Amino acid sequence: MIKSKGWDWKIVKGDKANIWKNPSVESYYLLNRWKEQEKEVFLDLGCGLGRHSILFASNGFTVYSFDISEEAIKRTKEWAENEGLTVNYQVGDMVELPYENEMFDAIYCRNVISHTDTEGIKKIIKEIYRVLKHDGECYLTLGSKDSTDYKNPNWPMVDENTKLRMEEGPEYQVPHFYADYKLSKELFKDFEIIDIHQKISYFEKETGIKESGHYHILIHKK
Ligand SMILES: C[S@@+](CC[C@H](N)C(=O)[O-])C[C@H]1O[C@@H](n2cnc3c(N)ncnc32)[C@H](O)[C@@H]1O
Repeated sequence: MIKSKGWDWKIVKGDKANIWKNPSVESYYLLNRWKEQEKEVFLDLGCGLGRHSILFASNGFTVYSFDISEEAIKRTKEWAENEGLTVNYQVGDMVELPYENEMFDAIYCRNVISHTDTEGIKKIIKEIYRVLKHDGECYLTLGSKDSTDYKNPNWPMVDENTKLRMEEGPEYQVPHFYADYKLSKELFKDFEIIDIHQKISYFEKETGIKESGHYHILIHKK
């Protein structure tokens, strides 16, 4: 398995950081859904700057923020403290979560678990299964093989599904795992898949239009 490598958040400042402070579109749906289901204990797995930790903590959830990046946890903590919110923090590697079995009602990991290789992703999915309560739900995203980045011939392959990202920036040399629909379904065979859809975003870059595709997956532990 490839060595884990988190984001270099120290170089993400100003407007670039602000993008990561607005909760993502589906987070409001999940907040509503999980409130209605009376879920309480929430894990923000790979919390980044903490946008979803803050959203769920301000809405009464018991929040655990977890990331491999010390800078990410530091900035999440500062933000939560400024808002007067109580959050549990932990720096660590998602391939081995430091939590008890069946601890969480809900887990949110947006653009996180793909930061590994094929062996790593299988370990992480097992860990998610282990720490999720029965009847718990998890929303996550997986990089899609339809992404321009997956087709980039200049980025080295780590295994048949994984590339090393070589673009300068916070994700430099962070491994990226990519799936297709069939593989996404296979990976979550131990769960009930409530919803799976692919979302493509377009960015204009000097080199042309870039497509960033992700599978968005909502799973339930029976
Ligand atoms: C694209 S950011 C997403 C942050 C957050 N989920 C959000 O939506 O704002 C990916 C995050 O995953 C973290 N990460 C990458 N590999 C990790 C690992 N092995 N264990 C824990 N966190 C990891 C990175 O440090 C980074 O904060």
